[in-house]
Amino acid sequence: MRKKLIAGNWKMNGRITFVQQLVQTLLVLLPDDLQSHCLLLPPAIYLPFLSTYLSNSSITLGAQNVYPQAAGAFTGELSAPMLQDYSCSYVLVGHSERRHLFAESEKFVADKFHHVKEHDMIPLLCIGETLKEREQGLTEEILTQQILAITEKDRHCFKNAVIAYEPVWAIGTGKTASPDQVQEVHSFIRALVSSFSSDDANVLPIIYGGSVNENNAAALFSMPDVDGGLVGGASLNAQQFVDIVKCIN
Ligand code: PGA
Repeated sequence: MRKKLIAGNWKMNGRITFVQQLVQTLLVLLPDDLQSHCLLLPPAIYLPFLSTYLSNSSITLGAQNVYPQAAGAFTGELSAPMLQDYSCSYVLVGHSERRHLFAESEKFVADKFHHVKEHDMIPLLCIGETLKEREQGLTEEILTQQILAITEKDRHCFKNAVIAYEPVWAIGTGKTASPDQVQEVHSFIRALVSSFSSDDANVLPIIYGGSVNENNAAALFSMPDVDGGLVGGASLNAQQFVDIVKCIN
């Protein structure tokens, strides 16, 4: 049985009062019998507060970013061991905003992925095509390239990892990929990972991200290869996020 996961990517949103209210409400609204892992990816500056506040809860914490070195002269950066000090067990790598706004290369994304694994944390690797690439029929080629950049160092690296398929054209746009489109891509990703290791592919959670909300989540999560969601905008509203979490069954 594959692990189901709903992750809330808060991006660079929220001030401390907002963060306190959001998690307080989440703890009230989240059902006791969670059918999935519920993961929050807050701005790193709020991790110390959240790791204490959520220590006895069913919510797991992760980071939105990492630098792929344990320590050193890397001004402004945070390493995996530092994130572990504040209960982070997951780290997002390869998000399209980092690939595009911060020009992160495939090699840099791969270095982060392996750094996270080397520190026994779980990398949540985001992959996805742009609208232009989809229109040119390049979706599978782009995803293959993004995955091969990771497996170059180790073909069995998807054990204890998560892949999030996030078509760039669906992120923050209100345009969600249809459940059939998502299923088609997820089964392609699983088959590709299976070509390296069928054991890894069978247990690999592949989650979908891109304008997931409480109205489209149930149909997306009902697809056989969709193991949950990576939620941006809707994760900033406790009721909406909990409604999405409840769509996993
Ligand atoms: P969105 O963001 O749900 O606001 O589209 C998803 C993401 O970027 O992870």
